Amino acid sequence: MVTSLLPWVFASFFILPSSGKLYQNPSQLVKTDYDYIVVGAGAGGAVVAARLSEDPRISVLLVEAGISNEGITDVAIPLMGLSLTPNTMLDWNFTTTPQPGLNNRAIAYPRGRLLGGSTSVNYMVYMRGSEDDFNRYASVTKDSGWKWDHMQQYAQRNENLVSPGDQHNTTGQLIPSQHSTSGAISVSLAGNPTPIDSRVIATTRELSDEFPFNPDMVGGNILGIGWSFASIGNGTRSSSAVGYLAPAAGRSNLDVVINAQATKLEVTGKVRNVPSFRRVLVTEKAGAPVLALTAKHEIILSAGTFGTPTLLQLSGIGDRNELRAAGVATVVHNPSVGKNMSDHALLPNVWNVNSSDTYDSVLRNPDEFKVSLAQWTKDRTGPLGSHITNNLGWLRLPKTASIFKTTHDPAAGPKSSHFEMLFVNMWVNPNVPPPPTGNFMSVVLALISPTSRGSIKITSSNPFAKPLINPNLVATDFDIFTLVEAVKAAKRFVSAKAWKGYIQDAVGGLETAKTDKQIEAYVRENTNTIWHAVGTAAMSAKGANYGVVDPDLKVKGVDGLRVVDGSILPFVPNAHTEGPIYLIAERGADLIKKDFRPHP
Ligand SMILES: Cc1cc2nc3c(=O)[nH]c(=O)nc-3n(C[C@H](O)[C@H](O)[C@H](O)COP(=O)(O)OP(=O)(O)OC[C@H]3O[C@@H](n4cnc5c(N)ncnc54)[C@H](O)[C@@H]3O)c2cc1C
Ligand SMILES: *[C@@H]1O[C@H](CO)[C@@H](O)[C@H](O)[C@H]1NC(C)=O
Ligand SMILES: *[C@@H]1O[C@H](CO)[C@@H](O)[C@H](O)[C@H]1NC(C)=O
Ligand SMILES: *[C@@H]1O[C@H](CO)[C@@H](O)[C@H](O)[C@H]1NC(C)=O
Ligand SMILES: *[C@@H]1O[C@H](CO)[C@@H](O)[C@H](O)[C@H]1NC(C)=O
Ligand SMILES: *[C@@H]1O[C@H](CO)[C@@H](O)[C@H](O)[C@H]1NC(C)=O
Repeated sequence: MVTSLLPWVFASFFILPSSGKLYQNPSQLVKTDYDYIVVGAGAGGAVVAARLSEDPRISVLLVEAGISNEGITDVAIPLMGLSLTPNTMLDWNFTTTPQPGLNNRAIAYPRGRLLGGSTSVNYMVYMRGSEDDFNRYASVTKDSGWKWDHMQQYAQRNENLVSPGDQHNTTGQLIPSQHSTSGAISVSLAGNPTPIDSRVIATTRELSDEFPFNPDMVGGNILGIGWSFASIGNGTRSSSAVGYLAPAAGRSNLDVVINAQATKLEVTGKVRNVPSFRRVLVTEKAGAPVLALTAKHEIILSAGTFGTPTLLQLSGIGDRNELRAAGVATVVHNPSVGKNMSDHALLPNVWNVNSSDTYDSVLRNPDEFKVSLAQWTKDRTGPLGSHITNNLGWLRLPKTASIFKTTHDPAAGPKSSHFEMLFVNMWVNPNVPPPPTGNFMSVVLALISPTSRGSIKITSSNPFAKPLINPNLVATDFDIFTLVEAVKAAKRFVSAKAWKGYIQDAVGGLETAKTDKQIEAYVRENTNTIWHAVGTAAMSAKGANYGVVDPDLKVKGVDGLRVVDGSILPFVPNAHTEGPIYLIAERGADLIKKDFRPHP
């Protein structure tokens, strides 16, 4: 993959606040108290800041550790998403602890560090999750407001279905009535056809029992293989910075400060006998001046699955033994903070193909890249205007699978999946860079209903020290069983007649991995993550004996603090996570607005 950001910069096409409304660092701020302070401008935080500031009575400050997305052309060009992480100026550069399930490999764990958060660096696949996912969130939290049907109003606010960049006829690729055309984020089908699309669809006809066609997976019925949607409008990334922050930029009641890392929340008093956390310390970098900011109403943590629990821990909210070991005084003992992380493991499977029309050469050959860039610059079409997968699918293990003798089915429900397949017209493998020659197809597998749970914890009171991140990938019998079965399913998929003359031999250990034991070894050697970790500040029912936030997203045992980001999801959904996080953030903003009283 292209490893460095390309140097050229275009005229900026996203107009973000400039006349004093976008502050370049905390020392520029002229005001230190606001009704609400939102920490983190990713999927969750951008939604909350934009929705709260729709009410002109409410003053909002959005605090973001990273830089602006504005003017970074590679962020705007969809296919260049592959080059934005890991370990770049747009990334937090996290690495996991050695993963026992992955032969003790430690892997990079990218997180976006700029306006838009990870939605500014991700691969833009867009879905809402399954009906079962949200109904399960409702049942474990005993709050029917999280039910799928109730959440659809928030999907309406989030999605704006637009034509694909190449304006192709989309009949048969989606069900229009299942989409919204009035939301903030542009969503479209893939804007560049690839030679594998028709073969994938032909396989759904040829092997329809195992791989049925799904006419539209955004509407909650996710099972089967169909066309993939992406948060792209007019061949350009539609991140939360583009879809939510840019339109809100002119509001006099919304301030945004970048290069501002929140380092600690402080107790400002007691309310109803619990500590109130309405002050947040922010700084540009280690050693720079620290500014204290105060929220009259609430501080909203939207720092993400890694940022939110670590900020809680740095502030004395967490497991008392872990806090003591890190040298942090405990204010509220809650052993659930940072626990129950759940993630989708990713397993790349790559085949040589008999074609020169793959994306491999576009990203590797400077002359081809120039041609594609000129095309994208002209009208936003071509390979660069599209995302990496035109088709994907969600599949279940058979009911008779032997693992169900020992493991209760962990899927969210009978209409939810155990694993996913993504079809990619190029080499995709986070562990191994693409070779200098060759053309490839990847069937990327993801484990969707893991039973493994991981954790995150600070080891020091220094907010700039890296936390220990342990997603604990593929740590259970169920998880390894499912990935082994998924590999066999992928092999069956590409053995359909539709692939004859196109697919050649598999790359790496895939070709020779035949027995379950050999496939297991291949899985452990090659699995990575698809970067969907959630659950580290999980919601649970009011009064439950575990969990970090109540169903209204207020942090348990304290006052003045809510969490609105991926960390609240107690189970990783049947989706790439931005869509479900947008939905919960829309509802979160609604809950906060409903509680707003002009004079606290
Ligand atoms: C490489 C990659 C590819 C992905 N591909 C897809 C995909 O195709 N489709 C999909 O749906 N999802 C994808 N995801 C996942 C998706 O982007 C995330 O699940 C989602 O953006 C998480 O939203 P969030 O609000 O929880 O956190 P984020 O979007 O990560 O936002 C958190 C924000 O908080 C900021 N922050 C953190 N700590 C602090 C602090 N202390 N002070 C101030 N600011 C702070 C961060 O800089 C960031 O801007 C991908 C993720 C990655 C990394
Ligand atoms: C991540 O690494 C890049 C490249 O070395 C660097 O520019 C950037 O500052 C790092 N980010 C953080 C948060 O340390
Ligand atoms: C799109 O394709 C469908 C089915 O092939 C056809 O009925 C319809 O007329 C086409 N629409 C346009 C605008 O060409
Ligand atoms: C993790 O979640 C489960 C429910 O899925 C719960 O029973 C358990 O107590 C949680 N663990 C912690 C440490 O929060
Ligand atoms: C899409 O982008 C191109 C190139 O900037 C521009 O000319 C065109 O007007 C845009 N189309 C829409 C529908 O916004
Ligand atoms: C490669 O594809 C071409 C058609 O595009 C076909 O004629 C040829 O037989 C294929 N080669 C192999 C080895 O399958």
